[in-house]
Amino acid sequence: MLSKKTSVPFRGTEAQEQALLEVIREMKDEKGALMPILQKAQDIYGYLPIEVQKIISNETGIPLEKIYGVATFYSQFTLSPKGRYKISVCLGTACYVKGSGDIYNKLMEKLGIVGGECTPDGKFSLDACRCIGACGLAPVMTINDDVYGRLKVDDIDDILAKYE
Ligand code: FES
Repeated sequence: MLSKKTSVPFRGTEAQEQALLEVIREMKDEKGALMPILQKAQDIYGYLPIEVQKIISNETGIPLEKIYGVATFYSQFTLSPKGRYKISVCLGTACYVKGSGDIYNKLMEKLGIVGGECTPDGKFSLDACRCIGACGLAPVMTINDDVYGRLKVDDIDDILAKYE
């Protein structure tokens, strides 16, 4: 598990690494520094790939296992980058009873990723969400700022094709 890498290659820049090292230098001697360091690291990179966790481990002396455990335990942290197009499928009750689970499964199958992941080309990421307050349109998904309602599994191909 610990060596699990996202399928998207890590593309951290020198500037990002310098910013992270600066944050670690400032915070590492404070008690309970790991959470704020991870938060800042996610602000810098947009997510917490294993490469970033290793830098934090090397610089703070905190074992990688512990960092990985914290990064995977708290839902505010993500180990995968988000895609150019962020797909979010509502799995709230109204959407779920109208079949959003099938929509979600179809997207996973079609994109070849599971929820929380991003396609290797960085184009689409897929997540589930709770009610977004559009239950009248159930089942609902969003792609960035676009909202799609009354979805059917057969609509998915045409919708994805709009995003180049
Ligand atoms: S349950 Fe999906 S929008 Fe409310």
